[in-house]
Amino acid sequence: MGNNAPIGIFDSGLGGLTVVREVLNLLPGEDIIYFGDTARTPYGSRPPAEILGFMHEILTFFSTQNVKMAITACNTMTALGLEQAKKEFPFLLIGVNNGAEVALRVSKNKHIGVIATEATINSGKHASAIMARDPAVSVYPQACRQFVPLIEQEKLHGLEIENAAREYLAPLHENGVDTIIFGCTHYPFINDIIKEIMGTEVALVDPARETAAQARTELAHQDKLSTRARGRVRLCFSADLSRAERFTNCAINFSREMGFAASFELINLQDYSVTKV
Ligand code: DGL
Repeated sequence: MGNNAPIGIFDSGLGGLTVVREVLNLLPGEDIIYFGDTARTPYGSRPPAEILGFMHEILTFFSTQNVKMAITACNTMTALGLEQAKKEFPFLLIGVNNGAEVALRVSKNKHIGVIATEATINSGKHASAIMARDPAVSVYPQACRQFVPLIEQEKLHGLEIENAAREYLAPLHENGVDTIIFGCTHYPFINDIIKEIMGTEVALVDPARETAAQARTELAHQDKLSTRARGRVRLCFSADLSRAERFTNCAINFSREMGFAASFELINLQDYSVTKV
C-alpha cells in the first residue's frame, strides 16, 4: 500500500467520529474512510463473539478499500478483538489509547474513574493498564449502559441523558475521583453534561488525541505518511444515512468547521456495495 492509500477508522456507530476529528487535526493530508455500523449499534451489551464477528466484517471491508492502516475507534472492539485482528489483516492496525498515561499525569488524588460500555468494563483493560503503571491508584470503573443508545438517538441534551449521567456518575462522585477517563468514543459528545454534573475540578480525559498521535507515529515509523496537503473524507454507515448525516453536521461539521468536503455513503457489508448521497 502506498503513502497515499487511505486510513480506515471504524466504530459501532457515530462515536468514532470523535477520533476522526483528532486524526484530521493532526494528519490533514490523509484520506479517511470512516465506517460506523449504525445498523447494529450498540455493540457494548452484545456477547463478545458477536462483536468479534462484526469487527472481522468491517476489517474485511477495509481490505477491499486497500487501506494502509485501520484505527479501531471503539474501546469495546479494542478491548476484545485488537490483538487477534492484528494477526489476521495485512495493514497496520491500532486501537483507542486507554488514557491511563494522561489520567495518571493529571490526577492529583489518584482516584481515577473509568466510564465505558459493559463489555469494556468487563474486560478490565483500563483498570489493569492504570494499575500496571501505578498500583497505588484507586480505580473506579463504571459501565454506562444507556449512554451509547441515547447518543445514537441524537439525545445529546435533555432529561433522559442527564438522568442517566447522574445515575452513573454518582458512585464516582461519592468516591471522590478527580479524573475520569472516557473509555468509549461516544462520550466526548456529552462532555458538557458530564462536566456540569462532576464540576470543573474533575478532569475529563478523552484519549482521542493520543490515539491520533499514535497513528501518526506508526505511519511515520513505516514511512507511510501521506504526501498530500489535504485529504478526502468518506463517511460510510451501514444504515440510517440521513440520521448519520444530520448528527455529523450538527456535532462535528467536517465541511464547515474543518474545511474537509466529506461524502456520506451507505455500505452494504454483505457485498460491500456503496450508495452515495
Ligand atoms: N464507541 C464504542 C466504544 O468506544 C461504543 C460501543 C457500543 O456500541 O456500545 O466502546
